Amino acid sequence: MSIAGPIEPFDDGIILSDQDFEAIAQFAYKHFGLAMSASKKPLVSSRLSRKLRKQNIKVFKEYLKQLDGPNADQERSELLSLLTTNVTQFFREPHHFETLRNDVLPPLLEKAKKGGRVRIWSAGCSIGQEPYTIAAVLHDMCPDADRYDIKILGTDIDPVVVKTAEQGQYPLEDFEGIPKQYKMKLEPGSKQGTGRVPQHLRQKVTYGVLNLIEPFPFKGKFDAIFCRNVAIYFDNPTQQKVWQAFQRTLNPGGYLFIGHSERMSGPAAQHLKTVGITTYVNTPG
Ligand SMILES: C[S@@+](CC[C@H](N)C(=O)[O-])C[C@H]1O[C@@H](n2cnc3c(N)ncnc32)[C@H](O)[C@@H]1O
Repeated sequence: MSIAGPIEPFDDGIILSDQDFEAIAQFAYKHFGLAMSASKKPLVSSRLSRKLRKQNIKVFKEYLKQLDGPNADQERSELLSLLTTNVTQFFREPHHFETLRNDVLPPLLEKAKKGGRVRIWSAGCSIGQEPYTIAAVLHDMCPDADRYDIKILGTDIDPVVVKTAEQGQYPLEDFEGIPKQYKMKLEPGSKQGTGRVPQHLRQKVTYGVLNLIEPFPFKGKFDAIFCRNVAIYFDNPTQQKVWQAFQRTLNPGGYLFIGHSERMSGPAAQHLKTVGITTYVNTPG
């Protein structure tokens, strides 16, 4: 990666040299799969400057050392949050949930009612509104889904957002965009102006921390994977690897949903056939 351009001072005089930026970019690529071009340098500079000022760090190299120091997990998680966005919402890109309702869930519910296993994965789930949306659709179609072996998994690389997801508590306005049919009776939140996803939906989702650029730890396969607005941070070779890993971990006939600005590419495209907008079905040869 070659980075051009002059040295840029932080607001308070800390210098982010091209070399420093390159070190951060390489770190983010190696550990998170994030591809950062030189155009991201002003953004990285300004976000990191605030953090370094708070921690009273005067020399950028000191910060780099912390990323491998005793508090590395937290430092890495904070860096990731600075470099990515956790933006999400209930029923985001709603056409995917129509496909879930009309095409994906009916045969899966049949399978579950005959004693089969159903697994749906929200990969890169941020604070959890995507997996709870899946749970809301499932509950609406099958209120007694708990009787069957149906599970929804939500994972993200960032432990901070996974914790929020587990709590399922959000500002009340986050719930406003939920279509009438799926409106949920909220539990009171612990802070004013917040509400909590009801227990019967929360218990349908299991959460975990998982980095998509590392080998997946699963034994079984999935019937549907939502990985939306995550691969956008990866370069093409990394995206292709992740698509392939998803293809291998989907059952035949399983669905993959990706974000509106993402595209399928590489060897996985041979098997993941388009069946709708950013919607693919696994058809292994
Ligand atoms: C913009 S949010 C997308 C949330 C949700 N999928 C949606 O579309 O509403 C992107 C999420 O991807 C996560 N992410 C970034 N790199 C990742 C990686 N290598 N492995 C897993 N998650 C990652 C971020 O932590 C962030 O929560």
